[in-house]
Amino acid sequence: MKLTAASLILAAGAIKPAIAASCPAFNYAAPLIKNPLLPNPYQLQDGTPVTTLADWNCRRDELLDLFQQYELGDLPPKPHRLGTRFYDASNTLALTAYEGDKTIAWNVSIQYPKTGTGPFPAIIAYGGPSIPIPDGVAVLIFNNDAMAQQNSASSRGIGKFYDLYGKNATASAMMAWSWGVSRIMDALEDTPRANIDPTRVGVTGCSRNGKGALVAGAFEPRIALTIPQESGSGGSACWRLSDWMYANGTVTQTASEITGENVWFSQEFAEFSPNGTIPLLPVDHHELAALVAPRGLLVIDNTAYDWLGPWSDYGCMTAGHTAYKALGVPDHMGYSQIGGHLHCSFPTAQQGPELTAFFQRFLLNNASASTTVWKTDVVAPFVLSQWADWTWPTLA
Ligand SMILES: *[C@@H]1O[C@H](CO)[C@@H](O)[C@H](O)[C@H]1NC(C)=O
Ligand SMILES: *[C@@H]1O[C@H](CO)[C@@H](O)[C@H](O)[C@H]1NC(C)=O
Ligand SMILES: *[C@@H]1O[C@H](CO)[C@@H](O)[C@H](O)[C@H]1NC(C)=O
Ligand SMILES: *[C@@H]1O[C@H](CO)[C@@H](O)[C@H](O)[C@H]1NC(C)=O
Ligand SMILES: *[C@@H]1O[C@H](CO)[C@@H](O)[C@H](O)[C@H]1NC(C)=O
Repeated sequence: MKLTAASLILAAGAIKPAIAASCPAFNYAAPLIKNPLLPNPYQLQDGTPVTTLADWNCRRDELLDLFQQYELGDLPPKPHRLGTRFYDASNTLALTAYEGDKTIAWNVSIQYPKTGTGPFPAIIAYGGPSIPIPDGVAVLIFNNDAMAQQNSASSRGIGKFYDLYGKNATASAMMAWSWGVSRIMDALEDTPRANIDPTRVGVTGCSRNGKGALVAGAFEPRIALTIPQESGSGGSACWRLSDWMYANGTVTQTASEITGENVWFSQEFAEFSPNGTIPLLPVDHHELAALVAPRGLLVIDNTAYDWLGPWSDYGCMTAGHTAYKALGVPDHMGYSQIGGHLHCSFPTAQQGPELTAFFQRFLLNNASASTTVWKTDVVAPFVLSQWADWTWPTLA
């Protein structure tokens, strides 16, 4: 199939922009421009440079829209009614969402710290945690697979989310999971008996679930700390950089491959699957990291697997880090990439200072924890100016 900008615009027509009225109108009819470099996070779609915090907030709205439109599908708002109940005999938070004549129910089990009285900080773990969780932090087990199945490309439209919103909902699995995270946040706010402090909640996951954790951190502003672990392409990697790695001779996961493998992304995103079409995508994943700013973000990666796109991960997150620099909080984002271990098996070499310090600072109220972390054992250098024809403004 030959991709034309017009076919993309047509397909995108259904989406309702959620841009604040005070922002420049979002021009959905503008043709997509081929850009082999990482797109400029600091320029509105109409060309206006981002020079103030207000501009950045408009740009954030645009980026959230662009990601929904081209990669992830639509994120529905809070449902018409959400019922929540806490069962203290089983430490279970029970949620029921109602929309039209449809109802879905799901449970989140909570593992509380053995000591202390709460309200406790907590981390939402997609499918259970694969990083060590420190004392004092509760764990909320999120069965994201039940919310939106991710077995294969045939999983499209299967799961509780689609029971509520219909099989034809445009939301990808990752967008459906992010919706689920937002409902958990609603439930924690509404349920003081659960004894969790909703202002100190993080999200984590590994591999495919790491991609999902990064999306939830970008879309849900109540998340205080986001820890994507070994998320690779589709997570901390940039599509453009992964394509470059592939062309340079490293077999790494690309957009071409991922769109056929599973339902993490929307059907719309498959338009960017033919080799050579990624330069038309108006966003890339450095902007997903930028959407988490200024909140805590610790990106954990692994150089032992070419498939994860180690150089792409490192370069992409280096570009994303500029948003934290622009907002005057460079140490709210950390990056740690080490090889020599199995996928999703957390090495002690990444425990300290990075993991401990980020938990201390963003969930355990320890303002003195130092979260200045930027390390990799990737050998190929990444030079941002070769991939970006932009610099970042000072916004704070
Ligand atoms: C949630 O947990 C409660 C209490 O254990 C149980 O009664 C209910 O059936 C569970 N709901 C679901 C959807 O699993
Ligand atoms: C979903 O889309 C298909 C194909 O367009 C259509 O046949 C089907 O009726 C739709 N299902 C629902 C529940 O809207
Ligand atoms: C895309 O095409 C280029 C040029 O033909 C080639 O070098 C590269 O390996 C291809 N990439 C993928 C992911 O197939
Ligand atoms: C705060 O974090 C620092 C650095 O991680 C640590 O050395 C210190 O013990 C922590 N303070 C408390 C009260 O836990
Ligand atoms: C590109 O290929 C060269 C030659 O194999 C290699 O030395 C270099 O590390 C590669 N660069 C990246 C970013 O993978």
